Amino acid sequence: MQTPSWFENPWKRNPWFESVAVAQERARKRLPAPVYSALLAGSERGQSRDDNQSAFAELGLAPHVVGQQPERDQTTSVFGQQISSPVIISPTGVQAVHPDGEVAVARAAAARGTIMGLSNFASKSVEEVCATGATTFFQMYWTGDRDTMIQRMERAHAAGSQGLIATLDWSFSIGRDWGSPEIPEKVDLKTMIRMAPQVATRPRWLADFGRQFRETGKLPDLTAPNLAPPGGNAPTFFGAYYEWMTTPPPSWEDVAWMREQWAQISGTPFVLKGVSRVDDALRAVDAGVAGISVSNHGGNNLDGTPAAIRMVRPIAERVGDQVDVVMDGGIRRGSDVVKAVALGAKAVLIGRAYLWGLAANGQAGVENVLDLLTGGVDSALRGLALSSVTDLRPEHLLVPHDFDRELGLPVTTAAR
Ligand SMILES: Cc1cc2nc3c(=O)[nH]c(=O)nc-3n(C[C@H](O)[C@H](O)[C@H](O)COP(=O)(O)O)c2cc1C
Repeated sequence: MQTPSWFENPWKRNPWFESVAVAQERARKRLPAPVYSALLAGSERGQSRDDNQSAFAELGLAPHVVGQQPERDQTTSVFGQQISSPVIISPTGVQAVHPDGEVAVARAAAARGTIMGLSNFASKSVEEVCATGATTFFQMYWTGDRDTMIQRMERAHAAGSQGLIATLDWSFSIGRDWGSPEIPEKVDLKTMIRMAPQVATRPRWLADFGRQFRETGKLPDLTAPNLAPPGGNAPTFFGAYYEWMTTPPPSWEDVAWMREQWAQISGTPFVLKGVSRVDDALRAVDAGVAGISVSNHGGNNLDGTPAAIRMVRPIAERVGDQVDVVMDGGIRRGSDVVKAVALGAKAVLIGRAYLWGLAANGQAGVENVLDLLTGGVDSALRGLALSSVTDLRPEHLLVPHDFDRELGLPVTTAAR
């Protein structure tokens, strides 16, 4: 039967999406191919990136048929903050996805009552992001000399950051079997003409940035404003990357030093992101961290690292009573959140999920993603007959006997 001419399918133009997969598909259609590909990321053969997501499908849920709870609570506390649901924004750089970038994400985080992780490679300044009112945790790599790191910490604190995330897992292992997208050094006329064929097929993305250009006279910015020296210009993405690559890697004493500096400057929590081994988790506790994120950097780093969710329980069982253990990698639905919390994570951090939402529909798209996740958490709690996320335990799941990966033999205190 043909639909009458006056009828318009309401779903066709509706910017709301029902799953992260639908948001990703919209992002794929909306973004120029190199930008979409930069968000897909992954490294080498993509084993870790893919396992991050597929491992969740190995875990089952064990729901009740009767006895469901009429009231279900998702509030929890992590890193000294009360959050409305155990889902936090993970720091990501490269946000040429939407003109409002991290500011839109921060507004969404504030609107939904959660923590905003802001990358030191972000396209918006920590001042602009904190001004949204979002509870912001600034993320730093180990880059630059000590005075520079202190200056960046002081700036993040002065702007209003309420925690520091140190991401130290990066090993510069970026070769991809499917090839890496070109990231231009800067967006000038020459670059625009060269990249025009890829961008011309994405008129809505172009229109968004065109609007920004008309309003502010600014093109998409590929600089890292949070790494600018006092009174100086922001380095380009590649300038920042070069500084990072040429900084000697940190020791555990350096981690303790960084934590101590942050404690003196701010007194707020210091979180180590990128932990995959139990022995490292123990050392992180010794270094005085307040929390760790079990993570393989979204599979963008050393390929072959197991899915983050496989490493959560061994680490949470070992140090979860001393520090807040969270995880990130592969979260795409509410039931993934529930599985991670049941295995011992206090909360999860999301990366690509909100980037797809941002690309699909700006701030509203990020809120849409957070709502989908909390909606999924609520359904799972209802099915499991629980009234709070804090009641989740491994026995609420079906976990294959060979699921967990315990990396790094426990070390004795003397050997540490
Ligand atoms: C495009 C992209 C950029 C990222 N940039 C950063 C970054 O600047 N700092 C950081 O700590 N992690 C960064 N990450 C890693 C995320 O914080 C997070 O660990 C990862 O995305 C989690 O996996 P998921 O995307 O499957 O949720 C980035 C990830 C992606 C996909």
